[in-house]
Amino acid sequence: MEGVTGHVFRRVHHAFFPQADKYYAPFIAPDGKGEFKISRLRDILPENNETITLVPQVLANDAEAFLHVARQLADLGYGEVNLNIGCPSATVVSKHKGAAMLRQPDRLDAFLADVYARTPISVSVKTRLGFSSTAEFDALMPIFERYPIHELIVHARDRAGMYRSAPDPDAFARALLQSRFPVVYNGNIFTAKDYRAVAGRFETLGGVMLGRGAAADPALFRTIRGGDALSVGELRDFHGALIEAHLSSGLSAAFTVGKMKELWFYMHTLFPDCAKPYKALTKARDLPQFTACADTLMASCALDPARGFQPPL
Ligand SMILES: Cc1cc2nc3c(=O)[nH]c(=O)nc-3n(C[C@H](O)[C@H](O)[C@H](O)COP(=O)(O)O)c2cc1C
Repeated sequence: MEGVTGHVFRRVHHAFFPQADKYYAPFIAPDGKGEFKISRLRDILPENNETITLVPQVLANDAEAFLHVARQLADLGYGEVNLNIGCPSATVVSKHKGAAMLRQPDRLDAFLADVYARTPISVSVKTRLGFSSTAEFDALMPIFERYPIHELIVHARDRAGMYRSAPDPDAFARALLQSRFPVVYNGNIFTAKDYRAVAGRFETLGGVMLGRGAAADPALFRTIRGGDALSVGELRDFHGALIEAHLSSGLSAAFTVGKMKELWFYMHTLFPDCAKPYKALTKARDLPQFTACADTLMASCALDPARGFQPPL
């Protein structure tokens, strides 16, 4: 997740909660020549991701640009790149990238043909079920079936649903039936119970991807695997280690506070009745103030990981 799960977060997360099989880096968006930001390179450099299994992700609608990045990833030792054709953001869609590619199936088909003919490494795909409607997936899946997709991760919503609409497991079920490659479910898995509902319904599931649920509850991968629920002591330790790691990576105290506030947008929802201390935390102006607010919140409010991430109304 852009802005949340960069390499510092991933390393600390894995040190405290090593139950995720792999991590996906926030997308690299190359320009027409395949060039991209140095901060993105730093995020995926193997030396910054030594302890984890990482799959870099690329957002592009131009095969040449995508392949240029794929070749650089191959040179760095990566065996897989993930193609993002699910991002719903207006700035991405206005450039005909991300979920916008689902609107033009013929163009998507030509893009995939070019990519799969020439890629030096495996390509997995992260998609949504459609642009305006989840019913579009019935026409998209036959296109995907033409290519040796390493793994298809399906965010079970259409683009119109952004992050709000109810996921459509029935449309996802049709994808699973047709597929000859592993299909991974994504969307609103916020608790171990949510996971069991998905895993129980889809027997041939290739896996699940977690987003906001794991940002809110860093122990979610563990509880899904039958382990203990998150304790407030663990959260306090994880939180402190994450701040330290950001600072020692060279991030300023001000930017560290900004990053931590983004994470608290998800985490605070596991603390019912924390409105007042959470508001104070969002207003903290420097690191000492921020850590004092976070300590107060964790000490004075009850943690209830079983409720899972609560999306804003
Ligand atoms: C702030 C934010 C940033 C995201 N960045 C990415 C990204 O870079 N690549 C990606 O594939 N998905 C990204 N996503 C989407 C999530 O991976 C996931 O598909 C979506 O949140 C639905 O899953 P969830 O209900 O488990 O959160 C992002 C989501 C959010 C909220």
